[in-house]
Amino acid sequence: MLECGCGAGPDTEILLALGAKVVAVDISSVAIAKRNLGNPANALFLRASIDDLPLRQNQFDIVFCHRVLQHTPSPENTLKHILTFVKPGGRVFVHSYARTLQQMISWKYALRPLTRRISPERLYRIVRYWMPALFRLTCGMRRCRPEILGRALFRFAYHTIPIRNYRFGDQFMSMDDDAMIEYAIHDTFDALSPMYDCPISASAMSAIASDLLDSNFEVIGHGGVTLLRSTKLLASEAA
Ligand SMILES: C[S@@+](CC[C@H](N)C(=O)[O-])C[C@H]1O[C@@H](n2cnc3c(N)ncnc32)[C@H](O)[C@@H]1O
Repeated sequence: MLECGCGAGPDTEILLALGAKVVAVDISSVAIAKRNLGNPANALFLRASIDDLPLRQNQFDIVFCHRVLQHTPSPENTLKHILTFVKPGGRVFVHSYARTLQQMISWKYALRPLTRRISPERLYRIVRYWMPALFRLTCGMRRCRPEILGRALFRFAYHTIPIRNYRFGDQFMSMDDDAMIEYAIHDTFDALSPMYDCPISASAMSAIASDLLDSNFEVIGHGGVTLLRSTKLLASEAA
């Protein structure tokens, strides 16, 4: 299979464990993924842009792209390009941030025109400097009484104060505040720093897939995510 944008290799690891043979591509150095996974025999790591892949088209059983498409200058063009690498009847899994009103009104998109102009090192220092205070402020809002007021204030803060505070998520209850502040620093920096952050709508994804795929698929728009994935083979295809 073709993995578009492998990063440090967390998905590659799972795909390999499931038995896949993977060509894992990333525009950044793939040395970290290679090292993290111990240079596995069934993976070929390739440094290239998924906008212009130096590979033969129509060759892959599966094209997989997770959390990458929105970081390309034109997700529509990138999607068109990567789908040409799936062989006839092959399968796809392509995930992206969704172009929905809920997504586009978030503080991230309001601040990006400014933060994109700041060097990553400086932006990281700014986020790190302000995070402890903003974290405590937003936690304080959530703890206001009565409970219903606290929840309303925290929801308001979530949409207006530019930090990612997961302190009250069930899955983070066992982590202490220092760890949550560290998490918030990295997730907030991740939200503000990418060169490109261009969500794609479910309708645009669907139109491109209809043009280029000859097997069954579905496009799911759910909250902040747009997902294109193959559905079950028809009995005639399976035969
Ligand atoms: C958010 S990370 C996701 C990595 C991995 N898929 C995951 O889910 O953990 C986005 C990755 O996309 C890569 N990327 C961005 N633009 C790319 C492009 N045009 N071609 C290939 N990789 C790209 C980045 O270098 C980064 O590793």
